[in-house]
Amino acid sequence: MRCAVYPGTFDPLTFGHLDIISRGAVLFDQVVVSILHNPSKQPLFSLTERMEQVRWSVRDISNVTVDNFSGLLVDYYRQNGFHCIIRGIRNQADVQNEMQMTQMNESLDSSVQTVFLPTRPDFLFISSTLVKDVALHGGDVHHLVPPHVQDALQNRYDQKRTD
Ligand code: COA
Repeated sequence: MRCAVYPGTFDPLTFGHLDIISRGAVLFDQVVVSILHNPSKQPLFSLTERMEQVRWSVRDISNVTVDNFSGLLVDYYRQNGFHCIIRGIRNQADVQNEMQMTQMNESLDSSVQTVFLPTRPDFLFISSTLVKDVALHGGDVHHLVPPHVQDALQNRYDQKRTD
């Protein structure tokens, strides 16, 4: 069974990420969306919230599961016997960054395989930071994130406004 990991911060998951997950699920027997737990960062959503948001969003894709990891991706990859890392590519800047990360990972463990999947044109402009900025200022994000994430963004920013 070919099992791939799609790692990321997912703060929050967007339709761009979901597009990559859906296409990964066609290419591999199993895809594990794994959320980086980085205690030095201050995400908008906790790890538990992000895991729950991703789980809800992939509930109809039978061969996708959700996990989290901390530390080096290559260690997590090896410990779990993955066959491949999936990364999405939106533009030239992503290519440069992803190439650098891929080569770093390969220098740490030459057995690690990575595939880049091009993001659908409709989602090329999306980033989690921009989505949060639009939501913070009361903008409509229904075309950018799943409904569950949209509600979570609205609740979080409503809560912050009343704090
Ligand atoms: N569509 C829309 N947006 C996308 C996207 C897509 N297909 N792919 C990425 N993005 C956006 C995200 O929304 C995010 O936006 P933001 O910067 O505004 O928040 C940005 O691109 C990058 O997000 P993500 O794909 O989640 O990657 P990341 O940079 O947060 O995490 C890891 C990358 C987790 C793979 C990397 O940091 C890692 O492996 N860390 C573990 C430690 C380690 O091993 N370090 C050495 C590795 S070289």
